Amino acid sequence: MAYEYHRLPAAAGIGLRSPHVGEVLAQRPSVPFFEVHSENYYLDGGPALAALGRIRADYPLSLHGVGMSLGSSDPLDLAHVEKLKTLIARVEPALVSEHLCWSAIGGRHLNDLLPLPYTDEALALACTRISELQERVGREVAVENISSYLAFADSTIPEWEFIAALAQRTGCKLLLDINNVYVNASNHGFDADGYIAAIPADAVAEIHLAGFEQSDGCLIDTHGAPVAPEVWALYARTIERLGPRPTLIEWDTDIPAFDVLQREAATAQIILEPRNVIAS
Ligand SMILES: [Fe+2]
Repeated sequence: MAYEYHRLPAAAGIGLRSPHVGEVLAQRPSVPFFEVHSENYYLDGGPALAALGRIRADYPLSLHGVGMSLGSSDPLDLAHVEKLKTLIARVEPALVSEHLCWSAIGGRHLNDLLPLPYTDEALALACTRISELQERVGREVAVENISSYLAFADSTIPEWEFIAALAQRTGCKLLLDINNVYVNASNHGFDADGYIAAIPADAVAEIHLAGFEQSDGCLIDTHGAPVAPEVWALYARTIERLGPRPTLIEWDTDIPAFDVLQREAATAQIILEPRNVIAS
């Protein structure tokens, strides 16, 4: 494989989870890039970090954070930022990303990615924190749109305008999760294609695809199912608009055999091929 490790290829990669690490190390499958959760490697040594180093020697890597709590009104957790900086120096990832959410307040951590009220005040706060994070780690960070199951009555800015403003004001990149756009469009009753149309194309550094499940009329972003046909269709329309982008299959619960993820990635790859984009 001859990939440039300093950037993600516009191809379909796979989220690497611990049950598959041994198989990947033994078989070195043809995968254009892997993404891992940053916090799983905030270690000073040990077998997990050693395995990541071996994988990084053969594949471009995307570091995806789940614990920075970018949207919190707390000061940035500088110990957390330092751990991310150390990991960046160790593995030299092609991309670093975080979620647009909050998960800690007053020093208490919640095990969830919670939505923000989309207000001018929250936007200013998120921009300040994203800018500070980018300055401290010395590189652009991609910010991911999350799924949500409630909306704040105080919100005054549509989610897509909020996300676009983050990129325009801070120069951050965006990690556009197509499943989350679809889930939120269904749960909150907005037009998913209108959302995609409002996103600045140049800012989109990576795309996520995952599976949702339905519960009591609400779509839940479980990351435990195949990508739904409606999400594949929205993804194809997104690629038609944006052009090919690095795309990642995420699967975090009821993790299947690695070849199931490879088949999902192969479906994304077909959509990414230019001739198929034109035909879609
Ligand atoms: Fe995602």
